[in-house]
Amino acid sequence: MWVTMPCPRLMREAGYHGEAYLPSPTYQGLGAGCWGTMNEVCAHLVGYMPREECVVHVYNTIVRVLPQGSEADEVIQQAAAMLRAGDVVAFPTETVYGLGANAMQPSAVARIFEAKGRPSNNPLIVHVLDVRAARKLCTTWPVMADRLAEAFWPGPLTLVVPRTGDVPDIVTAGGPNVGIRVPSHSVARAILTAAEVPIAAPSANRSNAISPTRAEHVLSDLNGRIPLIIDGGPTNNLESTVIDVSTELPRILRPGPISSQALAEVVGRLPVAVTVPQTEMAPLTSPGQLQVHYAPSTPAIMLPAGDADQLAAQLRTSGKLVARLTSGGGKSCLPMEIALPPSWQVWQANLYEALHTLDDAGADIIVVDEPPLASEWAAVYDRLKRACARTVNL
Ligand code: TXA
Ligand code: MG
Repeated sequence: MWVTMPCPRLMREAGYHGEAYLPSPTYQGLGAGCWGTMNEVCAHLVGYMPREECVVHVYNTIVRVLPQGSEADEVIQQAAAMLRAGDVVAFPTETVYGLGANAMQPSAVARIFEAKGRPSNNPLIVHVLDVRAARKLCTTWPVMADRLAEAFWPGPLTLVVPRTGDVPDIVTAGGPNVGIRVPSHSVARAILTAAEVPIAAPSANRSNAISPTRAEHVLSDLNGRIPLIIDGGPTNNLESTVIDVSTELPRILRPGPISSQALAEVVGRLPVAVTVPQTEMAPLTSPGQLQVHYAPSTPAIMLPAGDADQLAAQLRTSGKLVARLTSGGGKSCLPMEIALPPSWQVWQANLYEALHTLDDAGADIIVVDEPPLASEWAAVYDRLKRACARTVNL
């Protein structure tokens, strides 16, 4: 259920003390996106905002649990009906949980941006069932797209291709291309089948935070901001590889589970990796390249293993609570120490779970062992670099 109230002051008087979303960009002074606590919203509005503009969207977030491996029809039908009605729904994919909306309905897609506090210059990936549905969204379907789709769909690969005028501007951030992916997760596929519309879905977290690999992560980030979460159990990967095939020279916009070598074997040349860091407010010429992203709220720092040990020891001596993510033969001691074996597959599958656990541990700082620079580690390295990109005051 979601409620639109005419005025946040009335909501407060009615006993609601949660958060509120103000749709008008005039009020972005409130902080992250247009969200604020009810008190902040009311203080901000008193004597300032005409009453008729005081629209607040509040959701009573429901979590519906699917037994592992099941796509219980009634739950799927509820999700599909909400998507068709223009609402947002969080659901699992084979990478991370996504926050979906009907991609062809701009007002529905706008709710994704609201809920996440996502800057409007960052385009969304559209999820479809197969190549036929993908081709309906683009003006040309390059040979490279065909080969890559044949090799990796359904699966964790997003193809950026020239879009048709039917794809709303809000989905592509006004750009000429659209990112499309065909997920393999059975729940995502069941929802796509039942909804019968393309579904725009970014990761179901607040903008720049760690991507969710469990329904609990989605709830703790987006409670009150979205109406429904479909809990299909934990997911275990990084987000899809994003490759731009709209030009002759393919470009990797985001490294991911499908490596550049695997892509090269299919397209016959090594795609160029786009590495230019972008700031949040600049127009995103290479979206997905925000410098701080996928970040825990606890300050995090990444160093070569030996230096990381040394820093952790020094910080502990000076009384700091230090959480550690290490690579090697050590033992995990939850929730403060997580040791992952030095295998890129294991790190790829467990990185977000580990970062969520360490972030929730109440530490002053998270110290992470730097992964190898080898190409198979590119996606893990990319996510850790962004997770640790904020300046840390020691
Ligand atoms: O695995 C995934 O890709 C997950 C699941 C839910 O499907 N989705 C996901 O979406 O990670 P999001 O929005 O968190 O990241 C999408 C990335 C962003 O970096 C965005 O800038 C880029 O893909 N992207 C989307 N559409 C694009 C476009 N038209 N051109 C260039 N980059 C695009
Ligand atoms: Mg994301």
